[in-house]
Amino acid sequence: MLGGKNILLGITGGIAAYKTTFLVRLLIKAGAQVKIVMTQSAGSFVSPLTLSTLSKNPALTDFVNEEDDSISWNNHVELGLWADIMLIAPATANTLSKMANGVCDNLLLATYLSAKCPVYYAPAMDLDMYQHPSTKASIEKLESFGNILIPAESGELASGLHGEGRMAEPENIVSFLQNHLTEGLPLKGKRVLITAGPTHEALDPVRFLGNRSSGTMGFELAKKAADLGAEVILVSGPTNLSIEHPSVTLIRITSAQEMYDACHEHYAKTDIAICAAAVADYRPKHVAKEKMKKKEGDLHIELERNPDILLSLGESKIHQFLVGFALETENELDNAKGKLQRKNLDAIILNSLKDDGAGFGGATNKITFIDKNLGIKTFGLKTKPEVASDIWEEIIAAIHA
Ligand code: C5P
Repeated sequence: MLGGKNILLGITGGIAAYKTTFLVRLLIKAGAQVKIVMTQSAGSFVSPLTLSTLSKNPALTDFVNEEDDSISWNNHVELGLWADIMLIAPATANTLSKMANGVCDNLLLATYLSAKCPVYYAPAMDLDMYQHPSTKASIEKLESFGNILIPAESGELASGLHGEGRMAEPENIVSFLQNHLTEGLPLKGKRVLITAGPTHEALDPVRFLGNRSSGTMGFELAKKAADLGAEVILVSGPTNLSIEHPSVTLIRITSAQEMYDACHEHYAKTDIAICAAAVADYRPKHVAKEKMKKKEGDLHIELERNPDILLSLGESKIHQFLVGFALETENELDNAKGKLQRKNLDAIILNSLKDDGAGFGGATNKITFIDKNLGIKTFGLKTKPEVASDIWEEIIAAIHA
């Protein structure tokens, strides 16, 4: 959820500021870009040099930079516009009160007033300060502005006292942001299983039978599902693709049998499964232990059937919403509808090899979505990310129908 997001971290002057070094690392690990504004006093608790090294951006304190002969200024309006999220952590009682009252006497506060994005704040102070009616009034006022409180945690405080007031731990701040951002997303709480790519069926230790599937459609479906709030298991055959998303677990397999095993291991806990892989229907019956030597005359390889993963998932379906793909060359609609019923699917996505730009290997696809009631929707030629969005829109609509 934080992948690709611009996060403006505002650090104020409390002892918990030292924990922001860990916070910055976690945010960057989650895929976010981080810029930092800090108050003068925050610099007493954590070094701007450490923060700028970790975030790969200058940690800003002043409106004006005076270096050698040149003077530049830090544009708080631009910073506010850059941010997808502003996170003030730790937020001291002083800064909370200033935020609540529109005081604008430093770069952090000017940026806060300029920011149009959601603002989260994680208070940190001693327990009596946290309980003080003035602090409570500030928090209430900030709530009325739509700012989002990341509540302080209980525990030992820097003063030696025990109670509520510790800044939420960096891991908890990141989880809070992730949960908050996924709230209301249509696939929140759903577990999705997707197959992608080709399978390779070994002939000997160096040779295999395979196909030209790139895996792109399955990877785009996985990425989109995760962006819509799902937890995704992506079972992929050999591809050049990679995926960095905290909500996607990539399981790399080689053969159809391995894909079958991985799918069945996760299927019971799956809500929605999409089989987008180009699974080899046959595999060599005997796999040579040593590299096969060339001999005089022709070589005949005996093939045996691979399991049909989609069919097996259809047979063991309990609550899952199951979607397959059909790549057809003739009688497309009838064949796809037949497959939908035979494999006990909830929907099937047809791509016809007759359409230019459709099918696997390429960057585009042209699909027809057929639901269980044989409702048909045909889409134009689109990029695979766009096709993935269309497919998820149809699945979400079908689930809620
Ligand atoms: O029957 P056909 O192979 O045309 O069906 C294609 C659909 O079945 C695709 O969704 C594909 O991922 C899936 N499939 C499978 N296991 C196989 C063959 C196909 O899951 N062995």
